[in-house]
Amino acid sequence: HSTTKTSAEDLLMSYKGILYPSILCSVETFQALETFKARGDDLLVVTYPKNGTNWTIQILHEMVSVFHNSDPLLDATMIEFGDPEILAGFEDRPSPRIISTHLNFKNIPKSFFQKKVKILLVLRNPKDTAVSFYHFYNSLPALPSYTSWDLFFNDFIDGKVSYGQYFEYVVDWEKNFNDETMMAILFEEMKEDFPSSLKKISEFFQLSLSEEQINLVASRTSFNSMKEKSDNTHGKLGDSFFRKGEIGDWKNYFTEEQSKVVDAMFQKYLAGTKLGNMLNY
Ligand code: A3P
Repeated sequence: HSTTKTSAEDLLMSYKGILYPSILCSVETFQALETFKARGDDLLVVTYPKNGTNWTIQILHEMVSVFHNSDPLLDATMIEFGDPEILAGFEDRPSPRIISTHLNFKNIPKSFFQKKVKILLVLRNPKDTAVSFYHFYNSLPALPSYTSWDLFFNDFIDGKVSYGQYFEYVVDWEKNFNDETMMAILFEEMKEDFPSSLKKISEFFQLSLSEEQINLVASRTSFNSMKEKSDNTHGKLGDSFFRKGEIGDWKNYFTEEQSKVVDAMFQKYLAGTKLGNMLNY
């Protein structure tokens, strides 16, 4: 596909068959991750890009702050970003650490499973994911630009995007889903019933919060409140991360044909599965 920035080849790197932004990821860090030391009380957020990562990190940040009456470090960067030294810096962080990643199941450091770390998987309708990703690609200097939605759609379907193919990503988690340590939540569910989603999340992480505290977390993590704070939390990238925050924007982009392609893939990969049933859109 054609790009207007540096070529896609320079901006994306491939590691074990999956693409990653080369400005942010390196083979050295992927290798260092293999021996990353998780702690039993870490809180791990796992997402395919654009599925509500920053929203969820902020939610956990507020929940931990309120529950422990503290102000833990708010770090919205993925564990796989940066050089091995940054990764080593995680060892100095006080517990509980809020850690987030877009890594697919098989690349998650093994110690997260050995230590039975609680993992929150946030999922979003693949069509809205694609549209959000398209805008993100075109607004972030670290990612290639696309001259048209159609070109992006084709690469999204072919898995030629950062973090690979959406359905393969979700299926991998589906196959390895462990109800004891993992909980999945939908972006759409959080949009439609925020307080009860927050309650679910807080109970999963055993951060028992009063209704008043849940409401406080909700108000601090609303789209508008996060967008307003984004100069502080995300600097110049704020507008790229907090775009619309809505359900159904795909209808403004997808052709009927493209919609059918995604529906067919959904059937092929996820129909009748636990995560597929959740996602049923
Ligand atoms: P849109 O591009 O559809 O607006 P991620 O954090 O994983 O990169 O996901 C970004 C998407 O989540 C963007 O979707 C963004 O607007 C949305 N988002 C971020 N914070 C949100 C919030 N508090 N409420 C609803 N949506 C939010």
